[in-house]
Amino acid sequence: MSGLSIQNLSMRFDLPNGSSVQALKDVSLDLAQGELLSVLGPSGCGKTTLLNIVAGFLAPTDGKIILNGHEVRGPAAERGMVFQQGALFEWMNVRDNVSFGPRMAGKREKDYGANVDHLLEVVGLRDFKEKAVYELSGGMQQRVALARCLANDPDVILMDEPLGALDALTREKMQSLVLKLWKETGKTIILITHSVEEALLLGERLLVMAPRPGRIHREYRLPFADLGAGQDLRAVKKHPDFATTREEILGMIWDMEEEIMGRSETAGAAS
Ligand SMILES: Nc1ncnc2c1ncn2[C@@H]1O[C@H](COP(=O)(O)OP(=O)(O)O)[C@@H](O)[C@H]1O
Ligand SMILES: [Mg+2]
Repeated sequence: MSGLSIQNLSMRFDLPNGSSVQALKDVSLDLAQGELLSVLGPSGCGKTTLLNIVAGFLAPTDGKIILNGHEVRGPAAERGMVFQQGALFEWMNVRDNVSFGPRMAGKREKDYGANVDHLLEVVGLRDFKEKAVYELSGGMQQRVALARCLANDPDVILMDEPLGALDALTREKMQSLVLKLWKETGKTIILITHSVEEALLLGERLLVMAPRPGRIHREYRLPFADLGAGQDLRAVKKHPDFATTREEILGMIWDMEEEIMGRSETAGAAS
């Protein structure tokens, strides 16, 4: 049985003062191998918590994650994470960063070397192998992070705002790279973003989450990721359904944020 199954997931954080936060409530979702899911939602709706549970960094209070027929019980190389920034090893050069996983798994240069060089080529870093991480721009560092994740050959790639710190032009190039890697590798990808446009461009499936408790509000199946894998992303944005869907989702998130503001104002007035 291949694929990722998120089953009735709930997560409650108990705080030291005796109160608790219901970060996720009864979240269920099935992803087939090779599907690309983007996740949107107001701050605090449980996106990072969801990703951390799939990664195995957190154990849920209820529910479970099944990957390829096995229950997830902790971190493993089959599930790779790409963080927003700052997760590279500053003291290693680019190639050593990318080959870190295979080396830690006890593999030898002759077994992983060709694949590492291939990945560096694919992400456009062929001429930067010997550079130190601090010599690279933010966009290039995220290319290293992607290649390092792929070098472990995970089944699932988890990305929490991976492009959030990049300038607009670099971000657009990286969005194309994510689509290219998705098509070439057939990996299952879950990508969290704050950008509605990015979620539309990259999500073959798109989840809008709602807060308090964190839950699935709406799910879309979209044609744009497939279109974008073969052409300029700016052309994709001109697709007539693109603007319509963007407006619909923006309205949805706007309403949720208004409601959150309203609630906190009421709470403030009551105290
Ligand atoms: N370790 C933690 N302890 C207590 N509360 C947490 C913890 N992690 C997250 N939360 C709370 O859970 C909710 C969801 O957080 P998070 O998953 O980070 O949301 P998002 O990534 O969508 O912004 C928030 O209310 C947050 O404050
Ligand atoms: Mg988050």
